Amino acid sequence: MVNNEKLLSVKDITKVFSIGGLLTGTRLTAVNEVYFEMGSANPEIFTLAGESGSGKTTLARLILHDIELTHGSIFYRGTDVTTIRNRKERMRFMERVQPIFQNPFETFNPLKRVDTYLYATAVNYGIAKSGESTDGVVDDALRSVGLSLQEVRGRYPHELSGGQLQRVSVARALIPRPSLLIADEPVSMVDASLRMSIVNLFKELKEKSGVSIIYITHDLATAYYISDRIAIMLRGNFVEMGPVEKVLSEPLHPYTKILKESVPKPVLGEKWKDKIELSTLEAKEFARVGCKFAGRCPSVMDICKKEDPKNFLLDERTVKCHLYAKQFKNSIL
Ligand SMILES: Nc1ncnc2c1ncn2[C@@H]1O[C@H](COP(=O)(O)OP(=O)(O)OP(=O)(O)O)[C@@H](O)[C@H]1O
Ligand SMILES: [Mg+2]
Repeated sequence: MVNNEKLLSVKDITKVFSIGGLLTGTRLTAVNEVYFEMGSANPEIFTLAGESGSGKTTLARLILHDIELTHGSIFYRGTDVTTIRNRKERMRFMERVQPIFQNPFETFNPLKRVDTYLYATAVNYGIAKSGESTDGVVDDALRSVGLSLQEVRGRYPHELSGGQLQRVSVARALIPRPSLLIADEPVSMVDASLRMSIVNLFKELKEKSGVSIIYITHDLATAYYISDRIAIMLRGNFVEMGPVEKVLSEPLHPYTKILKESVPKPVLGEKWKDKIELSTLEAKEFARVGCKFAGRCPSVMDICKKEDPKNFLLDERTVKCHLYAKQFKNSIL
């Protein structure tokens, strides 16, 4: 179905990885029937938060069409992303939807001057054709992240700080003038003192340039600070999704409540303390029948171990929890 008014429509997407050998291997549902939409009328910052292994990067890679869906569909401005087949179509899509990665020192080759990446991006996307206007495009992009071509020209990655280099990678992503940035833990490798400047940059890009951002993080404090909406992920599922104020100030899902308690005040830069030993729990919990949180949930009921909860729509958000089944008949799945 074509849905032009939405910037992004992610409809019940699932990604199952086969791990291990053919006979001994298992299947791991890294993303399970995830559904969300982003409107095109007002730019927004939508955060994906969840502990390690919850499926955040897999979801980002699915949206970027970097890996194939197992099932479901993804529409970008009404175009089915999964039908992208050739380089030309991919370039057209990537012009609009740009990734920003975690470690800027891995994004750039240490032996290449960083400005060459910016020029190459401008040329590849046909943004500027003559030498002179390319300088203008590159300088504009750098200025929108608080740098300038003069500061960056001729420099190698090690001659810039992590924060500056991450700004350059944001500048590069902005060159094709995208409507959506997908930033996967963009500040976790950046020095703590510089993190807020990058986070503020995202806020500014949304407000001044109208760019929407999918912001992936472990850090609830920065999520609270910059997001409009947040989705809390657990074992591939969105367990709670809605306005960030609601979800983090008055969480409904028992898992979100625990997360909130683990970060008592929104202290910037603080990580969740709810780290669990994934190596032992991972396969078991992914395979669990019923709610993926049942094993750790303080409000667990019999049904939680037997049936996967539906998404209940209440108080401006969706909550995937049996606790709300009786109160609210308005399930959306
Ligand atoms: N290519 C792959 N093949 C098999 N399993 C994978 C693959 N990529 C991811 N996984 C598994 O899918 C699950 C989700 O991984 P993913 O990287 O999406 O989590 P994440 O939320 O981004 O975690 P982190 O916070 O550590 O970055 C994990 O159990 C991971 O081991
Ligand atoms: Mg990840």
